[in-house]
Amino acid sequence: MPTPLELALTAPKAELHLHIEGTLEPELAFALAQRNNIRLPYDGIAALREAYDFSDLQSFLDLYYACADVLRTEADFRDLMLAYLRRAREDNVVHAEVFFDPQTHTARGIPFATVLRGLKAGAETAHAEWGMSTQLILCFLRHLPEEDALATLAQALPFIDEIDGFGLDSSELGHPPAKFERVFARCRALGKPVVAHAGEEGPPAYIIEALDLLKVDRIDHGVRATEDAALMQRLARDQIPLTVCPLSNVRLRVFEDMRQHTLPQLLAQNLCATLNSDDPAYFDGYMGDNIRAVQAAFDFNTTTWHTLLANAFRASFVPAGRKATWIAALDTHFAKA
Ligand code: HPA
Ligand code: ZN
Repeated sequence: MPTPLELALTAPKAELHLHIEGTLEPELAFALAQRNNIRLPYDGIAALREAYDFSDLQSFLDLYYACADVLRTEADFRDLMLAYLRRAREDNVVHAEVFFDPQTHTARGIPFATVLRGLKAGAETAHAEWGMSTQLILCFLRHLPEEDALATLAQALPFIDEIDGFGLDSSELGHPPAKFERVFARCRALGKPVVAHAGEEGPPAYIIEALDLLKVDRIDHGVRATEDAALMQRLARDQIPLTVCPLSNVRLRVFEDMRQHTLPQLLAQNLCATLNSDDPAYFDGYMGDNIRAVQAAFDFNTTTWHTLLANAFRASFVPAGRKATWIAALDTHFAKA
């Protein structure tokens, strides 16, 4: 009989918290630097990997934005997306809702259209080759003013049919959700789902603001919710999905050690927690690596894995019929236990 770990690794999965810029592996970064005649400020792949020793979110973001400089052309964004989806498929990811940070690129003079067309091209190839489905979620950078986010939304409008939702990422502390109330209201008025990073490094109050002011459909991370009992009850009652990224949280020192992660508490209190990889190239961890690390720390049983993986399909932004098909396939998979 397969073990809970084997069942989890081989199950069909959805990934809902994944920054495409965070999938840039050093090998691809150097290949793109060469293709675009750019010098990366690191003496080779090993030296770059050695820099992946982060003390907090900001120390990671500094490197993440620096490496994104190698992404210049439509082909670069296509290759990035395709490389991620190829790798995710090895972990049996069948559906990915992918964040992208247009401001990181438009600030360097890369047109919005170049970014979007490249990412779309990669997603279309993965769909044609492997049947994988992808959605694109445009994230606003919260360390920049809301006016910049509004300008980015204006740039996105000609492509609005190709954008499946909006999000909020980058440096959390000092940049509360309240700062983005107007732009989120416009995104919602376009009929799009909205999400926000909250309660990663920031306090539970940021999660409450994201719910009350931004009216988000999901919370990204949300792992500090456990510090507020009333918030935990609300998240459970309303089944607000949390896109949890365990290896990211350990690598960015939100938790000292995986055994201190709050994922078991979230599940025990019946929150709709999901498992995701965030920035897998930087955190040494794709979906499968996250599953293995969580299992090493918590030894979840088959029922818990079934719930955790089904939550991602439930929390996805695809139509109800497709969700039901995926959940039925997952139920069949876990019936082997
Ligand atoms: N948090 C906030 N912003 C980000 C992250 C994250 O984990 N990854 C990429 N941008
Ligand atoms: Zn993230």
